[in-house]
Amino acid sequence: MKQFISVHDVPDINALVSKALACKSDPLKHKSLGANKRIGCLFLNPSMRTRLSTQIAAQNLGMDVIVFNVGSEGWALEFEEEAIMSGSTVEHVKDAAPILGKYFDILAIRTFPSLKNREDDYSELFMKQFVKYAGIPVVSLESATLHPLQSLTDVLTITEENQKSNPDKYQDKNPKIVLTWAPHVKPLPQCVANSFAQWINVWGEADFVITHPEDYELSEEFTRGATITTDQDEALKDADFVYVKNWSTYSDYGKIYCNDPAWMLTNEKLELTNDAKVMHCLPVRRNVELSDEILDGPNSLVTQQAANRVWAAQAVLSEILARIP
Ligand code: CP
Repeated sequence: MKQFISVHDVPDINALVSKALACKSDPLKHKSLGANKRIGCLFLNPSMRTRLSTQIAAQNLGMDVIVFNVGSEGWALEFEEEAIMSGSTVEHVKDAAPILGKYFDILAIRTFPSLKNREDDYSELFMKQFVKYAGIPVVSLESATLHPLQSLTDVLTITEENQKSNPDKYQDKNPKIVLTWAPHVKPLPQCVANSFAQWINVWGEADFVITHPEDYELSEEFTRGATITTDQDEALKDADFVYVKNWSTYSDYGKIYCNDPAWMLTNEKLELTNDAKVMHCLPVRRNVELSDEILDGPNSLVTQQAANRVWAAQAVLSEILARIP
């Protein structure tokens, strides 16, 4: 693997999931793989799970890790080519990224969308410019439109749960996985939902349904292949996994339209499912996005899911390190 920006960088999802599960069963087995190698983790935006799990993963592989909160502590970066930098940006990415490429062996970056201009956000200019100018492998720690480390974790958690709970259960049918929109107080990016949809569709081992209120359609680029419905109850019927996530509107970009609290998952709604396991990438707004009764109940996978972030990151870094001389 040369880089990890989206599912399209992964030749075999199941092989990568197996590698992550092997990392989980023996975290320090490849402690020397990253010896004398250094990863730079650049955060243009806040993070808890991605930051800490990536650091732990790199350390498990023997790497040195430097975290740089470039969004709050670094120079304001310019990403547009041929920009006349007379405004607030101080340093162009084409000057900064090659230097980072000399300091580090792998560069990991988190950016978010502005949610103001869809074309700009969906062009993924920030990530593309780092890839173009760093000259070393780049790992996405979440970009304007995708969160591939989260999605790898999600497929890993579903696989692990399938194997653990009932190895025979899915022998003659794929699990039903439902991605459901949930209410929120702020307009959030579409990254996690886009990425989850993209990964589950490419994985191809699920009966995949997406449900959301009208006007919350995601880009077809990521959802094509899934069944899409605005009837949440219908979607939840016989589900084996329910992935809960808010996102803002894609069409009239970055807005909150309907914010009906009835879309929050409750134990009553869970009755419609096949005793589904409930997932969320976190952080979560309790009793807005997801009810206490679900989050604190036996069907919640959220802690296991967040803990699995380490093994997803470790598998990805292992694959990339294996190609670095
Ligand atoms: N799920 C996730 O990416 O969490 P953080 O924003 O805390 O990294």
